[in-house]
Amino acid sequence: MLIEVVNLKKYFGSGVFKKSKIKAVDGVSFEIGRNETFALVGESGCGKSTVGRCVLDLIRPTDGQVRFKGMNISGMNEVPHDIRKRIQAIFQDADGTLNPRMKVFDLMMEPYRINGLNNGQGKKKVADLMEMVNITPDLLGRYPHELSGGQRQRIGIARAMALNPEFIVADEPAASLDLSVQAQMLDLMKKFQAEHDVGYLYISHNLKIVKLMADRVAVMYLGKLVEVGKTGDVFNCAKHPYTQALISAIPVHNTRAGRKRILLKGDVPSPLNPPAGCRFSTRCPYCEKKCRTEEPILVGDKHIVACHLR
Ligand SMILES: Nc1ncnc2c1ncn2[C@@H]1O[C@H](COP(=O)(O)OP(=O)(O)OP(=O)(O)O)[C@@H](O)[C@H]1O
Ligand SMILES: [Mg+2]
Repeated sequence: MLIEVVNLKKYFGSGVFKKSKIKAVDGVSFEIGRNETFALVGESGCGKSTVGRCVLDLIRPTDGQVRFKGMNISGMNEVPHDIRKRIQAIFQDADGTLNPRMKVFDLMMEPYRINGLNNGQGKKKVADLMEMVNITPDLLGRYPHELSGGQRQRIGIARAMALNPEFIVADEPAASLDLSVQAQMLDLMKKFQAEHDVGYLYISHNLKIVKLMADRVAVMYLGKLVEVGKTGDVFNCAKHPYTQALISAIPVHNTRAGRKRILLKGDVPSPLNPPAGCRFSTRCPYCEKKCRTEEPILVGDKHIVACHLR
Protein backbone atom coordinates (compact mmCIF):
# COMPACT_ATOMS: atom_id res chain seq x y z
CA MET A 1 0.00 0.00 0.00
CA LEU A 2 1.28 3.46 -0.87
CA ILE A 3 -0.27 5.45 1.98
CA GLU A 4 -1.88 4.11 5.14
CA VAL A 5 -3.47 6.43 7.65
CA VAL A 6 -4.16 4.58 10.87
CA ASN A 7 -6.45 5.98 13.57
CA LEU A 8 -5.13 9.48 12.98
CA LYS A 9 -5.90 12.11 15.61
CA LYS A 10 -4.99 15.77 15.67
CA TYR A 11 -6.07 17.93 18.59
CA PHE A 12 -5.28 21.62 18.78
CA GLY A 13 -5.10 23.51 22.08
CA SER A 14 -7.66 26.26 22.38
CA GLY A 15 -8.27 29.19 24.70
CA VAL A 16 -5.77 31.26 26.64
CA PHE A 17 -4.18 28.32 28.42
CA LYS A 18 -4.69 25.89 25.51
CA LYS A 19 -6.47 23.64 27.95
CA SER A 20 -9.54 22.82 25.91
CA LYS A 21 -8.94 20.76 22.82
CA ILE A 22 -10.21 21.24 19.29
CA LYS A 23 -10.57 17.71 18.00
CA ALA A 24 -9.92 18.59 14.37
CA VAL A 25 -9.25 14.96 13.38
CA ASP A 26 -10.46 12.28 15.72
CA GLY A 27 -9.60 8.74 14.64
CA VAL A 28 -9.43 8.61 10.85
CA SER A 29 -8.16 5.56 8.92
CA PHE A 30 -7.83 4.92 5.19
CA GLU A 31 -5.46 3.51 2.59
CA ILE A 32 -4.50 4.80 -0.83
CA GLY A 33 -2.84 2.71 -3.51
CA ARG A 34 -0.69 3.51 -6.54
CA ASN A 35 -2.56 5.05 -9.41
CA GLU A 36 -5.52 5.69 -7.14
CA THR A 37 -7.34 8.95 -6.43
CA PHE A 38 -8.91 9.00 -3.00
CA ALA A 39 -11.12 12.01 -2.30
CA LEU A 40 -11.84 13.52 1.08
CA VAL A 41 -15.03 15.58 1.17
CA GLY A 42 -17.08 17.38 3.81
CA GLU A 43 -18.12 20.82 4.99
CA SER A 44 -15.72 23.59 5.87
CA GLY A 45 -13.91 22.95 9.15
CA CYS A 46 -14.52 19.19 9.28
CA GLY A 47 -10.76 18.49 9.31
CA LYS A 48 -9.87 17.69 5.69
CA SER A 49 -6.84 19.95 5.44
CA THR A 50 -5.62 18.82 8.83
CA VAL A 51 -5.57 15.23 7.56
CA GLY A 52 -3.69 16.43 4.47
CA ARG A 53 -1.14 18.35 6.52
CA CYS A 54 -0.50 15.30 8.71
CA VAL A 55 0.03 13.13 5.61
CA LEU A 56 2.49 15.73 4.29
CA ASP A 57 4.25 15.78 7.67
CA LEU A 58 3.71 19.54 7.91
CA ILE A 59 2.20 18.90 11.33
CA ARG A 60 2.58 15.93 13.64
CA PRO A 61 -0.46 13.90 14.68
CA THR A 62 -1.57 13.81 18.31
CA ASP A 63 -2.00 10.07 17.90
CA GLY A 64 -2.13 7.43 15.18
CA GLN A 65 0.15 6.87 12.22
CA VAL A 66 0.81 7.93 8.66
CA ARG A 67 2.66 5.21 6.75
CA PHE A 68 4.29 5.60 3.37
CA LYS A 69 5.07 2.25 1.73
CA GLY A 70 4.97 0.65 5.14
CA MET A 71 7.26 3.21 6.82
CA ASN A 72 5.73 5.06 9.74
CA ILE A 73 6.75 8.57 8.69
CA SER A 74 4.75 10.26 11.45
CA GLY A 75 6.89 8.40 13.97
CA MET A 76 10.27 9.39 12.51
CA ASN A 77 12.30 12.12 14.23
CA GLU A 78 12.94 13.58 10.84
CA VAL A 79 11.69 12.24 7.53
CA PRO A 80 14.74 11.70 5.27
CA HIS A 81 14.88 13.96 2.23
CA ASP A 82 14.66 11.13 -0.31
CA ILE A 83 11.39 9.97 1.24
CA ARG A 84 10.01 13.47 1.70
CA LYS A 85 10.48 14.37 -1.96
CA ARG A 86 8.33 11.42 -3.01
CA ILE A 87 5.32 13.01 -1.30
CA GLN A 88 4.34 16.37 -2.76
CA ALA A 89 1.52 18.88 -2.38
CA ILE A 90 -0.68 21.04 -4.57
CA PHE A 91 -2.58 23.74 -2.69
CA GLN A 92 -5.46 25.96 -3.65
CA ASP A 93 -3.38 29.05 -3.42
CA ALA A 94 -0.16 28.37 -5.30
CA ASP A 95 0.50 32.04 -4.76
CA GLY A 96 1.23 31.50 -1.10
CA THR A 97 3.81 28.81 -1.87
CA LEU A 98 5.69 30.64 -4.66
CA ASN A 99 8.48 32.95 -3.57
CA PRO A 100 7.43 36.40 -4.89
CA ARG A 101 11.06 37.37 -5.48
CA MET A 102 11.80 34.44 -7.79
CA LYS A 103 11.17 34.41 -11.52
CA VAL A 104 9.28 31.58 -13.18
CA PHE A 105 12.43 29.91 -14.51
CA ASP A 106 14.00 29.83 -11.05
CA LEU A 107 10.78 28.62 -9.48
CA MET A 108 10.68 25.73 -11.93
CA MET A 109 14.40 25.08 -11.53
CA GLU A 110 14.31 25.11 -7.74
CA PRO A 111 13.24 21.49 -7.18
CA TYR A 112 16.04 20.27 -9.45
CA ARG A 113 18.60 22.58 -7.90
CA ILE A 114 17.73 21.30 -4.45
CA ASN A 115 18.52 17.87 -5.83
CA GLY A 116 21.95 18.91 -7.01
CA LEU A 117 21.38 19.61 -10.72
CA ASN A 118 23.05 22.71 -12.17
CA ASN A 119 21.30 25.16 -14.50
CA GLY A 120 22.59 23.36 -17.61
CA GLN A 121 21.32 19.95 -16.51
CA GLY A 122 18.10 21.43 -15.21
CA LYS A 123 17.23 23.40 -18.37
CA LYS A 124 16.19 20.37 -20.36
CA LYS A 125 14.04 19.16 -17.48
CA VAL A 126 12.42 22.56 -17.06
CA ALA A 127 11.63 22.57 -20.80
CA ASP A 128 9.89 19.18 -20.49
CA LEU A 129 8.01 20.40 -17.46
CA MET A 130 6.92 23.57 -19.24
CA GLU A 131 5.54 21.57 -22.08
CA MET A 132 3.64 19.31 -19.73
CA VAL A 133 1.91 22.15 -17.89
CA ASN A 134 1.67 24.38 -20.93
CA ILE A 135 3.85 27.27 -19.75
CA THR A 136 5.26 29.22 -22.69
CA PRO A 137 8.89 30.50 -22.75
CA ASP A 138 7.78 34.14 -22.62
CA LEU A 139 6.63 33.58 -19.04
CA LEU A 140 10.02 32.40 -17.76
CA GLY A 141 11.25 35.90 -16.93
CA ARG A 142 8.16 36.95 -15.01
CA TYR A 143 7.51 37.12 -11.30
CA PRO A 144 4.51 35.31 -9.74
CA HIS A 145 2.48 38.54 -9.43
CA GLU A 146 2.82 39.05 -13.19
CA LEU A 147 0.95 35.81 -13.90
CA SER A 148 -2.70 34.84 -13.93
CA GLY A 149 -4.07 32.61 -11.18
CA GLY A 150 -4.27 29.70 -13.61
CA GLN A 151 -0.64 30.15 -14.68
CA ARG A 152 0.49 30.33 -11.07
CA GLN A 153 -1.47 27.18 -10.28
CA ARG A 154 0.15 25.35 -13.20
CA ILE A 155 3.58 26.35 -11.93
CA GLY A 156 2.64 25.04 -8.50
CA ILE A 157 1.65 21.76 -10.13
CA ALA A 158 4.83 21.65 -12.20
CA ARG A 159 6.90 22.07 -9.06
CA ALA A 160 4.98 19.29 -7.33
CA MET A 161 5.47 16.98 -10.31
CA ALA A 162 9.10 17.90 -10.98
CA LEU A 163 10.71 15.27 -8.83
CA ASN A 164 8.54 12.36 -9.92
CA PRO A 165 6.62 12.01 -6.67
CA GLU A 166 4.79 8.79 -5.92
CA PHE A 167 2.08 10.50 -3.95
CA ILE A 168 0.47 13.94 -4.09
CA VAL A 169 -1.86 15.64 -1.63
CA ALA A 170 -4.04 18.06 -3.60
CA ASP A 171 -5.94 20.37 -1.25
CA GLU A 172 -8.67 22.24 -3.18
CA PRO A 173 -6.32 22.53 -6.16
CA ALA A 174 -9.02 23.79 -8.51
CA ALA A 175 -10.99 26.06 -6.19
CA SER A 176 -9.60 29.39 -7.35
CA LEU A 177 -9.70 28.64 -11.07
CA ASP A 178 -12.40 29.30 -13.63
CA LEU A 179 -14.08 26.35 -15.28
CA SER A 180 -11.94 26.04 -18.40
CA VAL A 181 -8.67 26.34 -16.49
CA GLN A 182 -10.04 23.93 -13.90
CA ALA A 183 -10.70 21.35 -16.62
CA GLN A 184 -7.16 21.75 -17.98
CA MET A 185 -5.68 21.29 -14.55
CA LEU A 186 -7.72 18.18 -13.81
CA ASP A 187 -6.73 16.72 -17.19
CA LEU A 188 -3.12 17.41 -16.37
CA MET A 189 -3.41 15.64 -13.03
CA LYS A 190 -5.06 12.63 -14.67
CA LYS A 191 -2.46 12.45 -17.42
CA PHE A 192 0.36 12.64 -14.91
CA GLN A 193 -1.27 9.89 -12.88
CA ALA A 194 -1.66 7.61 -15.89
CA GLU A 195 1.99 8.09 -16.83
CA HIS A 196 3.54 7.85 -13.41
CA ASP A 197 1.19 5.67 -11.38
CA VAL A 198 1.01 8.34 -8.72
CA GLY A 199 -1.55 8.20 -5.91
CA TYR A 200 -3.63 11.26 -5.01
CA LEU A 201 -5.33 12.42 -1.86
CA TYR A 202 -7.82 14.84 -3.40
CA ILE A 203 -9.35 17.22 -0.85
CA SER A 204 -12.35 19.23 -1.96
CA HIS A 205 -15.89 20.25 -1.21
CA ASN A 206 -16.71 20.37 -4.88
CA LEU A 207 -18.56 17.09 -5.32
CA LYS A 208 -18.94 17.56 -9.05
CA ILE A 209 -15.17 17.50 -9.48
CA VAL A 210 -14.75 14.69 -6.99
CA LYS A 211 -17.17 12.57 -9.02
CA LEU A 212 -14.97 13.10 -12.09
CA MET A 213 -11.63 12.62 -10.40
CA ALA A 214 -11.91 10.09 -7.62
CA ASP A 215 -11.79 6.30 -7.59
CA ARG A 216 -12.94 6.24 -3.99
CA VAL A 217 -14.53 8.85 -1.76
CA ALA A 218 -14.43 9.38 2.00
CA VAL A 219 -16.99 11.66 3.63
CA MET A 220 -15.83 13.48 6.74
CA TYR A 221 -17.94 15.09 9.45
CA LEU A 222 -16.51 16.84 12.52
CA GLY A 223 -13.18 15.03 12.51
CA LYS A 224 -14.46 11.56 11.65
CA LEU A 225 -15.17 9.58 8.51
CA VAL A 226 -18.85 8.69 8.20
CA GLU A 227 -18.81 6.88 4.85
CA VAL A 228 -16.16 5.47 2.50
CA GLY A 229 -16.67 3.68 -0.78
CA LYS A 230 -16.13 3.55 -4.51
CA THR A 231 -17.13 6.85 -6.13
CA GLY A 232 -20.01 5.27 -8.04
CA ASP A 233 -21.37 3.54 -4.95
CA VAL A 234 -21.16 6.65 -2.77
CA PHE A 235 -22.79 8.90 -5.37
CA ASN A 236 -25.43 6.45 -6.56
CA CYS A 237 -26.39 4.84 -3.29
CA ALA A 238 -25.19 6.99 -0.43
CA LYS A 239 -25.90 5.29 2.87
CA HIS A 240 -25.20 7.97 5.46
CA PRO A 241 -27.83 10.71 5.88
CA TYR A 242 -25.04 13.28 5.81
CA THR A 243 -23.69 12.00 2.49
CA GLN A 244 -27.23 11.97 1.12
CA ALA A 245 -27.66 15.59 2.12
CA LEU A 246 -24.34 16.62 0.55
CA ILE A 247 -25.17 14.85 -2.69
CA SER A 248 -28.66 16.27 -2.82
CA ALA A 249 -27.15 19.75 -2.64
CA ILE A 250 -25.10 19.34 -5.86
CA PRO A 251 -26.66 21.67 -8.40
CA VAL A 252 -28.25 19.84 -11.32
CA HIS A 253 -29.24 21.33 -14.66
CA ASN A 254 -32.14 19.00 -15.27
CA THR A 255 -34.55 20.01 -12.53
CA ARG A 256 -37.24 17.73 -13.95
CA ALA A 257 -35.22 14.78 -12.72
CA GLY A 258 -37.24 15.41 -9.59
CA ARG A 259 -34.47 15.23 -7.08
CA LYS A 260 -35.33 16.63 -3.72
CA ARG A 261 -32.81 18.68 -1.87
CA ILE A 262 -32.30 17.63 1.72
CA LEU A 263 -31.72 20.72 3.83
CA LEU A 264 -29.59 20.26 6.89
CA LYS A 265 -30.84 21.92 10.03
CA GLY A 266 -28.61 24.23 12.04
CA ASP A 267 -24.87 24.73 11.89
CA VAL A 268 -21.99 22.32 12.15
CA PRO A 269 -21.37 21.89 15.91
CA SER A 270 -18.05 23.06 17.32
CA PRO A 271 -15.16 20.58 17.26
CA LEU A 272 -14.35 21.90 20.75
CA ASN A 273 -17.43 20.23 22.04
CA PRO A 274 -18.73 17.62 19.62
CA PRO A 275 -22.17 16.08 20.32
CA ALA A 276 -22.29 12.83 22.29
CA GLY A 277 -23.25 9.68 20.42
CA CYS A 278 -23.31 10.20 16.67
CA ARG A 279 -21.73 13.55 15.85
CA PHE A 280 -24.30 14.11 13.15
CA SER A 281 -27.25 13.45 15.49
CA THR A 282 -27.97 17.16 16.13
CA ARG A 283 -28.67 17.71 12.43
CA CYS A 284 -29.85 14.31 11.26
CA PRO A 285 -33.43 14.10 9.98
CA TYR A 286 -33.66 10.45 11.11
CA CYS A 287 -32.11 10.80 14.58
CA GLU A 288 -33.32 8.29 17.18
CA LYS A 289 -32.66 8.00 20.89
CA LYS A 290 -29.70 5.65 20.48
CA CYS A 291 -28.02 8.09 18.09
CA ARG A 292 -27.67 10.68 20.87
CA THR A 293 -25.92 8.34 23.27
CA GLU A 294 -24.02 5.67 21.35
CA GLU A 295 -21.33 6.45 18.83
CA PRO A 296 -21.75 4.43 15.62
CA ILE A 297 -18.65 2.72 14.19
CA LEU A 298 -17.76 2.23 10.55
CA VAL A 299 -19.09 -1.08 9.32
CA GLY A 300 -19.13 -2.80 5.95
CA ASP A 301 -16.68 -4.30 3.54
CA LYS A 302 -15.96 -2.18 0.48
CA HIS A 303 -18.64 0.44 1.12
CA ILE A 304 -18.47 1.34 4.79
CA VAL A 305 -20.73 3.59 6.81
CA ALA A 306 -21.03 4.75 10.43
CA CYS A 307 -24.75 5.01 11.13
CA HIS A 308 -27.05 3.18 13.57
CA LEU A 309 -29.90 3.20 11.09
CA ARG A 310 -28.15 1.34 8.26
N1 LIG B 1 -3.36 25.36 13.76
C1 LIG B 1 -4.60 25.27 14.27
N2 LIG B 1 -4.89 25.67 15.54
C2 LIG B 1 -6.12 25.57 16.05
N3 LIG B 1 -7.17 25.07 15.38
C3 LIG B 1 -6.98 24.66 14.11
C4 LIG B 1 -5.69 24.75 13.49
N4 LIG B 1 -5.80 24.26 12.23
C5 LIG B 1 -7.09 23.90 12.07
N5 LIG B 1 -7.80 24.14 13.20
C6 LIG B 1 -9.23 23.85 13.42
O1 LIG B 1 -9.43 22.48 13.10
C7 LIG B 1 -10.68 22.31 12.43
C8 LIG B 1 -10.45 21.66 11.08
O2 LIG B 1 -9.78 22.56 10.22
P1 LIG B 1 -9.38 22.17 8.73
O3 LIG B 1 -8.60 23.30 8.17
O4 LIG B 1 -8.73 20.85 8.73
O5 LIG B 1 -10.79 22.08 8.01
P2 LIG B 1 -11.16 21.82 6.48
O6 LIG B 1 -12.07 20.64 6.43
O7 LIG B 1 -9.93 21.77 5.66
O8 LIG B 1 -12.02 23.13 6.11
P3 LIG B 1 -12.10 23.96 4.73
O9 LIG B 1 -13.00 23.18 3.84
O10 LIG B 1 -12.70 25.26 5.16
O11 LIG B 1 -10.71 24.10 4.19
C9 LIG B 1 -11.33 23.68 12.38
O12 LIG B 1 -12.21 23.81 13.47
C10 LIG B 1 -10.14 24.62 12.50
O13 LIG B 1 -10.53 25.83 13.08
MG1 LIG C 1 -9.16 22.99 4.10
